[in-house]
Amino acid sequence: MNALFRILLSSIFLVQLTHLANAKPKRNRWSFKVDLPMDILATQASLDELKEDIRSKLNDLEAVVNKRCEAKTMMEKEIVRFTSENPKADHMYGSLSGDLMKSTKGLIVIQENLGMTNEITDRALKIAKLGNLVTLAVDLYRGDIAQTHDEARELSGMLSYDGAMKDIEGAAMYLKSRGIKKVGITGFCFGGRITLSAAALINPDLISAAAPFYGIPDPEMCGCNISNIAVPVQAHFGMNDTSRSANPVEAEKLRILLENIGDKNEFFFYDNAGHAFNRVDGDRYNKDADELSLKRLVDFMNKHLM
Ligand SMILES: *[C@@H]1O[C@H](CO)[C@@H](O)[C@H](O)[C@H]1NC(C)=O
Ligand SMILES: *[C@@H]1O[C@H](CO)[C@@H](O)[C@H](O)[C@H]1NC(C)=O
Repeated sequence: MNALFRILLSSIFLVQLTHLANAKPKRNRWSFKVDLPMDILATQASLDELKEDIRSKLNDLEAVVNKRCEAKTMMEKEIVRFTSENPKADHMYGSLSGDLMKSTKGLIVIQENLGMTNEITDRALKIAKLGNLVTLAVDLYRGDIAQTHDEARELSGMLSYDGAMKDIEGAAMYLKSRGIKKVGITGFCFGGRITLSAAALINPDLISAAAPFYGIPDPEMCGCNISNIAVPVQAHFGMNDTSRSANPVEAEKLRILLENIGDKNEFFFYDNAGHAFNRVDGDRYNKDADELSLKRLVDFMNKHLM
């Protein structure tokens, strides 16, 4: 009597999913039962058919388990806490998106002057999915969200650039502590200004690439010099931006400056796009410019965060 025959006689076939269990902690080991009809023993052909059936069910099960694992490692918007040397407070929060199991590239996302709104954390999630990056939207205002544009200007005016740089360093170190190899930074309007400042002021070992959207810092305010930027920069501006600091005339000056300081820099203007053209709930949302610019952003970061 061969071994298989003996098992079949018991009419209950216990399958231990050891190959699946290995991928999980021991306490999650599990098994399932297959009830075998007695007439299964009739022929070798029916036995083969049964084995084939079991194999196919195992494959289905494995696919389910894999999918479950995938859902677990992909973070949608996880609020994380990390330390910062900003004298304002020794810790802060951010919204982490992406899959730490599948990416070693981190991207810090800096809010518009409204604060860390749902819209900006959604945008960070969108970028993470689009480029298989791990994004961290950092809450530079520490909980404040402006309800009006006046409030937004007040909040951004009060922010210390020195403190923000400490916060960004803290965010980069946090990402590295989670297994990220290289970190880039991007930001939108106010966040664009902070992004370029960070590229000029923070050690390139910590921040390796920068992509500002319609923001150019005032050298006095940031205490930085764009000419000192040593990391690749990709800048995005709308041709119809009428803001004082990010209109096409100011943007063109930046383009020439960047052209002179590095051959890895990229510069893009978007036709018919106004200020804040990426903000989906804003008046000037421009879908084509949004999609094209975010695609360029993730391609650029994937290239430079190797
Ligand atoms: C900025 O840096 C460049 C290059 O190091 C230097 O030539 C220029 O004078 C600096 N500008 C200011 C305002 O310090
Ligand atoms: C953008 O500016 C151009 C040139 O001034 C103008 O023709 C066009 O209508 C503007 N587009 C939008 C969407 O405002």
